[in-house]
Amino acid sequence: MNSKPIQIDSASVPAHIAIIMDGNGRWAKAQGLERTAGHVAGVETVRTVITAASEIGVKYLTLYAFSTENWNRPPEEVAALLHLIVVALEKETPDLVKNNVRLNVIGDVGRMPAESYDSLQRSIAATAGGTGLQVNLALSYSSRWELVEAARRIAARAVAGELTLEEISESTVDSMLTTAGIPDPDLLIRTGGDSRVSNFLLWQIAYSELYFSPVYWPAFTAEDFLKAVADYQRRERRFGLTSEQVSAPDGGPIG
Ligand code: IPE
Ligand code: IPE
Ligand code: MG
Repeated sequence: MNSKPIQIDSASVPAHIAIIMDGNGRWAKAQGLERTAGHVAGVETVRTVITAASEIGVKYLTLYAFSTENWNRPPEEVAALLHLIVVALEKETPDLVKNNVRLNVIGDVGRMPAESYDSLQRSIAATAGGTGLQVNLALSYSSRWELVEAARRIAARAVAGELTLEEISESTVDSMLTTAGIPDPDLLIRTGGDSRVSNFLLWQIAYSELYFSPVYWPAFTAEDFLKAVADYQRRERRFGLTSEQVSAPDGGPIG
């Protein structure tokens, strides 16, 4: 194809992009392969997207790799997925280090088998010095799990007399989430053709721009990723204000 290269404005690159990487199973089925082959192929796309995100200067990339609900899939698929994560981490960690990427994990990782847990901890430690893109891998993650955990922690502090009810604010909740210290996603991408958020970052995406791609995750290219970013850059984010307020030359209410 001789389509024009996608133009990205370096002044308004989203600082945080979250991705629901969906469609591995359907991609595999369409090729006459087992679902697991789709997950294997999906690892290549993770590589591609990490590289593309680093190149345009994204600071945080949060990838939904395995949800709380995904534990209910057939045990063979769960085992294959968890094992694949270990294999991918071992294989990719040296390149992550070379590319200055820092790996972080969000989710109920205590539920992971020891093999996966240990391998994650090794990759996190190996990439801890990365000062470029931070990749947050959401594993055994769901937003409702995270919010219940946050509620418990806030209640524990209140019961212990460390926090009064009046002191509980949005920033208290923020600070109790797995994403504490990370800015909310500017852009949420879901591949695979479905338009839903499937229990991902429900609090954090309050004002994210949503982008749904019909492309199955293993077939999603760097160009598809850049198309999503370019689409984001054409939008006006108003945060409840009027268009006039948002476009007011300096002095506007959001400064
Ligand atoms: C996304 O692909 C990967 C995970 C949820 C782990 P799926 O496995 O959900 O693929 P589809 O949606 O069935 O095609
Ligand atoms: C969402 O995909 C979770 C991940 C991509 C890890 P699912 O395939 O589990 O989502 P639903 O079940 O179609 O909503
Ligand atoms: Mg799916």
